[in-house]
Amino acid sequence: MPLSSVELVARINVWRREKNAVIMAHHYVREEVQDIADCVADSLQLAQEAAKTSADVIVLCGVHFMAETAALISPDKKVLSPDLNAGCAMANMLTEEELCDLRAEHPRALVVTYVNSTAAIKAQSDICCTSANAVAVVKSLPADREIIFIPDRNLGAYVAKRAGRDLILWRDGFCPTHERMLPTFVETARREHPRAKLVVHPETQPAVAAVADFVGSTAGIFRYCRESSAAEFIIGTEIGVLPRLRRENPGKQFYPLTETADCPNMKLITLAKIARCLEREEPVVRVKPEIAARARAPIEKMLKVKS
Ligand code: 13P
Ligand code: SF4
Repeated sequence: MPLSSVELVARINVWRREKNAVIMAHHYVREEVQDIADCVADSLQLAQEAAKTSADVIVLCGVHFMAETAALISPDKKVLSPDLNAGCAMANMLTEEELCDLRAEHPRALVVTYVNSTAAIKAQSDICCTSANAVAVVKSLPADREIIFIPDRNLGAYVAKRAGRDLILWRDGFCPTHERMLPTFVETARREHPRAKLVVHPETQPAVAAVADFVGSTAGIFRYCRESSAAEFIIGTEIGVLPRLRRENPGKQFYPLTETADCPNMKLITLAKIARCLEREEPVVRVKPEIAARARAPIEKMLKVKS
């Protein structure tokens, strides 16, 4: 018989103590996973936490690039992924060959790579960014250099506008979950909730981000909703953020821009898989040494940018 949630949590708690493990979770994973995590964070904070943790084992509850990033910046830790099939659809939308072609077309350009990418793509990049620091990263680069921004065309368009720089974008990179949020949904939601603030992630389409009251990373969205004096919010990001937004802001109302905005891969992470991976200490996330050596530098460079 499968174990109950209470039994699973009890086992997870024993193993995390015995093995000096830390459980890190992204804001989009299942609520019950967020509830048992030692930290729930956006991509930037997950990378920062992984860089400074004193734990021996990191259980990264999110999609693959997040676990890979932790493994790259904390090579002396054992990084576990409860499900190696939890990939990010966007990360597979640009191949190494396609990046080579882009670089050949713009040989003097610097390459800024969103962390939602493979280690092999990071290895060919000058600097990485997350949705939280992308504007600051681009602004930190010399004004006289061309910049290729990959792979997210929507985040790239938003950053170009905010940083006031022309960016060379990859036309075929986007997040299917955020791309699903159409401008017509905004019109409907605004009509239904005229007093609500529209709060979106920069992975949304430019036509959606352009009319939002706030655009920010998942952690930025939590901060904005907490600090805002408004009482109602339309949330344009993955629906996994909603339970905690509601719990942490009891007097406020939160409406999803669309109920269909879920990231199926984030939901692959379950309590049962966390318990199993902690017990067996596998699967371990490994990056080929020759790729890791080159992919680490752009992440470390990003972590030094003040945002
Ligand atoms: P954050 O940078 O806000 O964590 O977002 C990552 C992501 O995958 C959004 O879809
Ligand atoms: Fe990737 Fe989109 Fe899922 Fe974020 S929501 S992990 S960008 S597929």
